[in-house]
Amino acid sequence: MKNFQYYNPVRIVFGDNQIKELANLVPLDARVLITFGGGSAKKHGTLDEVKAALDANGSRKVFEFGGIEPNPEFDTLLKAADKVNELDIDFILAVGGGSVIDGSKFIALVAPLTDDSNSKKVSREKAWQTLTSRCRNLDSAVDLGAVLTIPATGSEMNSGGVINDSNRQAKLSFSNPLAYPKFSILDPTKTFTLPEHQVMNGVADAFVHVMEQYLTYPVNAKVQDAFAEQLLKILIEEGRAVCQNPEDLETRKNIMWSATMALNGLIGTGVPQDWTTHMIGHELTSLFGIDHARTLTILLPAVMRELKASKKDKLLQFANSVWGLTDERQSDDDKIDAAIDMTEAFFKSLNLPVSLSDANLDESVIDTVIEQLDAHQMTALGEHGNNDLTVSRRILQRAV
Ligand code: NZQ
Ligand code: ZN
Repeated sequence: MKNFQYYNPVRIVFGDNQIKELANLVPLDARVLITFGGGSAKKHGTLDEVKAALDANGSRKVFEFGGIEPNPEFDTLLKAADKVNELDIDFILAVGGGSVIDGSKFIALVAPLTDDSNSKKVSREKAWQTLTSRCRNLDSAVDLGAVLTIPATGSEMNSGGVINDSNRQAKLSFSNPLAYPKFSILDPTKTFTLPEHQVMNGVADAFVHVMEQYLTYPVNAKVQDAFAEQLLKILIEEGRAVCQNPEDLETRKNIMWSATMALNGLIGTGVPQDWTTHMIGHELTSLFGIDHARTLTILLPAVMRELKASKKDKLLQFANSVWGLTDERQSDDDKIDAAIDMTEAFFKSLNLPVSLSDANLDESVIDTVIEQLDAHQMTALGEHGNNDLTVSRRILQRAV
């Protein structure tokens, strides 16, 4: 195991009927901006519940900013950041999924970066430079809390985010400890209103998060490996269960907590990581608008097949521990191939795409994806940094 520091300051408030806890979690005299997405929080009553909790005690002033898109847009977020300054907001409350929470983290980080000539308006240039340098080296941010409505990204308990800029055809990730939410409320009953495909997206995104922190090479990190393998098994079991019985609250609870645990830093400490699938996936979302999780299920089987040699030991461990492929009569190679096939079949069973053609794309798109990876300096991916553009091209060819 490698040396590491582990720090995660996010208070998690988990369970049904916990939104009322906002009355105790948000400072009593805060000026709060509630941020939300395209309307699901309004439509399903979550926004009203949030406002009632904030009104329950204290003297908070509450404002709203809606319309943060899935794959949150840079321009929209800067409008929200201007609003933070105009209204002297000192607490941002994100109500939604990864897009709203990521977007709100970015709002919180860039709001202090005002124009030299106007102290209420965020400098577009400074904000873009900040994003392209992955939001490192900032020294202040507005406080943030979250009410999660879709289990998937883990954004509710990490310090990262991903922002899209359609005009520049770029989807860029960032991370900064100032972006950790002060708290996140995880109410699994909120997930009952999700469309089925979003539920499956969430299971797949969490699954791939675990894989990107697990499927590298062994470093004898027993705690991280055991956590990762159990999370994968739970996601397989509960993914199947939620297809069979979408109304089961216990299943929803286990999916929600697994997705948070999949990307709160714990299983990624002290181990090598390989975010190749995500980095190529972000280009597919930015170019073709494919849902984040679906880009991952298209790419992961191809990544596993292409990088089989360098990941052999961990793939075999995955085959044994996650898929139970322990028959001694089967060769290691056969076990690995079977584990990859079973992973792909699992994604298919959730009605998720497993190839570019499943997303109505063909090999003619590969050149463009490679150009975008190059433009975004994604030329040395993987745990050894040796997945160059030639390797990414081969992965995409396998994914056709
Ligand atoms: O916008 P509204 O109307 O709220 O609708 C949303 C959206 O259309 C809807 N929705 C959310 N909760 C709902 C609901 N509909 C009904 N009932 C509810 N309870 O679901 C749709 C998708 O929402 P979104 O927030 O986009 O989904 P997700 O949580 O999957 O987030 C995806 C974003 O997170 C980024 C992705 O790149 C993508 O931009 N990621 C963030 C990460 C992080 N911060 O650590 C890591 C991930 O790998 C990922 O990259
Ligand atoms: Zn993801």
